[in-house]
Amino acid sequence: MNAAILGIETSCDETAIGVVAGGVVLANRVASQVPLHARFGGVVPEVAARNHLLSILPGIEAALADAHLAPAQLGGIAVTHQPGLVGALLVGVQTARTLALCWNKPLVGVDHIQAHVWAAMLRQPDAPPVALSPPFLALAVSGGHTSLYRVAGPGQMTLLGRTLDDAAGEAYDKFARLLGVAYPGGPNVDKLAQLGDPARFKLPRGMRGRADVAMSFSGLKTAARLHMEALQAQGPLDAQTVQDLCASFQQAVVAQLVHVTQKAALQQGLRDVVLAGGVAANHGLRAGLAQMCARQGLQFWPVPLAWCGDNGAMVAGLGEALLAAGQRDDPHELDAVPTGLVKRRAG
Ligand code: KG4
Ligand code: ZN
Repeated sequence: MNAAILGIETSCDETAIGVVAGGVVLANRVASQVPLHARFGGVVPEVAARNHLLSILPGIEAALADAHLAPAQLGGIAVTHQPGLVGALLVGVQTARTLALCWNKPLVGVDHIQAHVWAAMLRQPDAPPVALSPPFLALAVSGGHTSLYRVAGPGQMTLLGRTLDDAAGEAYDKFARLLGVAYPGGPNVDKLAQLGDPARFKLPRGMRGRADVAMSFSGLKTAARLHMEALQAQGPLDAQTVQDLCASFQQAVVAQLVHVTQKAALQQGLRDVVLAGGVAANHGLRAGLAQMCARQGLQFWPVPLAWCGDNGAMVAGLGEALLAAGQRDDPHELDAVPTGLVKRRAG
């Protein structure tokens, strides 16, 4: 058995700690801050950082206890050092640097989005090894990113295309706020969408007729807002209308993501398609991509639901692969690099 790797994730609003050995998830503790941020309608960076400070050491102790491991038995420490909210990232990075020095363990900083994608390789203790291997196509959909990558190995991702405006998760969260659906918007809109009629409202499905695989969600958000405002002018929306709006919005998001993913897979000649990131938990998206892959003879690898949202297991998993490939960071120098992920307040 490989020595286990500790993974630390504090880039946004989850204090998440995982332990992984040989791709097997031995522990996955997530202390969610959702209730703390809900009343603000979005993540407040300073609140997030302060709560990471409170939760991180108890989280590490609990995860090691879950995995029945003492610190001395660890093979290394991995931490998300980019992208994310700077104060939030710093808590994880400083903790990881300190523990790496105190426990004399190798340290590696990992990219949050790459970790989301590499989560497709993770498995439960009783599951057979995952038969996926690079190169493969990855669609990474989160609150801050919506991108397609060609993945050649751990930490080796070439960007093929991305959203030109909002990320898919951000579009969900903004749409939910406009509609008065409770925070966090994405999962709640997904639930309502399953009860609605996706054909009731016609909404734009991204940019067609382009040679590249760029995406856009701001036109969809505006069109949905105009429908909503026209309906609201006639009185409060009934439950069926809210569900139909959610279903129509979800169908438009899914149609666009399925379209560009199919195009990228065919352009790149890749047979394996990974779906990763918080929005990968979306029922409509999982079903839409599964159908497209079956039609095209592609193999579909959605990240298991347990590891779609931000978690420490994905960080430990990618960290394990990077450490095995000889990658190391200096515990005196590893720094937080915030650029990229910004979870804006919806609106
Ligand atoms: O990856 P993640 O947990 O954090 C970031 O790295 O951003 O993604 C969070 C995003 C949020 O925008 C949330 O609303 C969205 O993922 N999300 C969903 C679903 N579950 C989470 N969006 C649509 N349907 C879902 N089931
Ligand atoms: Zn994420």
